[in-house]
Amino acid sequence: MYVKQLELKNFRNYQGAFLSPHPRLTVLTGQNAQGKTNVLEALHLCCLGRSHRTAHDRELIRWGTERAAVRLQVARTDGTHDIAVTLTQDGRRKQVKVGGTQIGRIGELMGHFHGILFSPEDLAIIKQGPAERRKLVDMELSQLYPAYFYTLQRYMRALNQRNSLLREMQRGHGGSAATLQAWDEQLVQAGAHIVGQRRAYLALLAQAAAASYAGISGGTEALGLRYQTQIDSDGDKAQLAAQFLHRLRETRADDIRRGSTSVGPHRDEMRLTLNGREARVYGSQGQQRTVMLSLRLAELEVVRMERGETPVLLLDDVMSELDPFRRRQLLERIADAQTLITCTDESDLAGASIGAVYRVREGTLTPA
Ligand SMILES: Nc1ncnc2c1ncn2[C@@H]1O[C@H](COP(=O)(O)OP(=O)(O)OP(=O)(O)O)[C@@H](O)[C@H]1O
Ligand SMILES: [Mg+2]
Repeated sequence: MYVKQLELKNFRNYQGAFLSPHPRLTVLTGQNAQGKTNVLEALHLCCLGRSHRTAHDRELIRWGTERAAVRLQVARTDGTHDIAVTLTQDGRRKQVKVGGTQIGRIGELMGHFHGILFSPEDLAIIKQGPAERRKLVDMELSQLYPAYFYTLQRYMRALNQRNSLLREMQRGHGGSAATLQAWDEQLVQAGAHIVGQRRAYLALLAQAAAASYAGISGGTEALGLRYQTQIDSDGDKAQLAAQFLHRLRETRADDIRRGSTSVGPHRDEMRLTLNGREARVYGSQGQQRTVMLSLRLAELEVVRMERGETPVLLLDDVMSELDPFRRRQLLERIADAQTLITCTDESDLAGASIGAVYRVREGTLTPA
């Protein structure tokens, strides 16, 4: 798929802007704080209905204005589609339209426009705790399979309910074993689905990411990705559910004592290693960046395999910290996907076959 047009109204520092990216490589270039990332953020908003930088939609509305709007026209193998997101200051629910029809739940937006964003903030995924890595997997699976998104919501609701019940029981304020049993059932049904989907997805991702990493680094280092879950049954969904239920029973007394649920996919981990050593601990800046880029490129491969549609790559400031060899390798690897890339210095992209260049200055986009 590819973006044909993007229109911004009162979005961040743009009063009004229009972008018509090239089907291959488009470069957004300008000095710091001019609005480059804001464009990618607007595109991300059309993928998942939210910003990658903030959970507060209001921050996206241009200061002193009431209403921000982002409109996107995307071409897919099944035709051209419109996506429109409108945000208002009064904090009412955001309005999202797909093909002119307003959607009721944000899950209905998933998959219509599939963008894969790499941003400097991504390094947190490698450097910080397992929650960041779970979020990466969940966002990707939600875009691939909207049913996953709803299952995850069900799981988190059941988990919160179970935890508040556990806290009541911990304090001796009632809460019956029968109610706990009921939440266990819900947790297990949703949880088994989540573990099954993550396991299958991560097996594909691990393979593709290792290949990307080998390519970009010139094959001198090997990237490993391993899914770690407490429900370690290799079996089907029913077996995973049985295993999960068994673990919940085992830990029940402990859980009541702690007032929280100690087993389940909310404790999953995705371990990343370079030549067998933890990337989080031992990786250099450039290596960690390469790991993250490899994961993003691997996401692209997996979506292409699963959906038969190539997502759009949104690369924010990727070139800094990559040596010239890695830059060249990266540029070769993105060649067949529509890519929007930001940079402060165009010479970082020397040798790339650039389709379009936009100069970004104080919230204006000018084709160069
Ligand atoms: N709601 C808003 N209204 C108006 N301006 C905003 C709003 N939010 C952010 N800005 C402005 O947008 C600019 C930042 O834009 P952006 O993050 O896209 O910069 P950039 O070009 O990517 O810079 P860098 O190269 O430093 O990453 C800042 O100057 C900021 O003040
Ligand atoms: Mg930026």
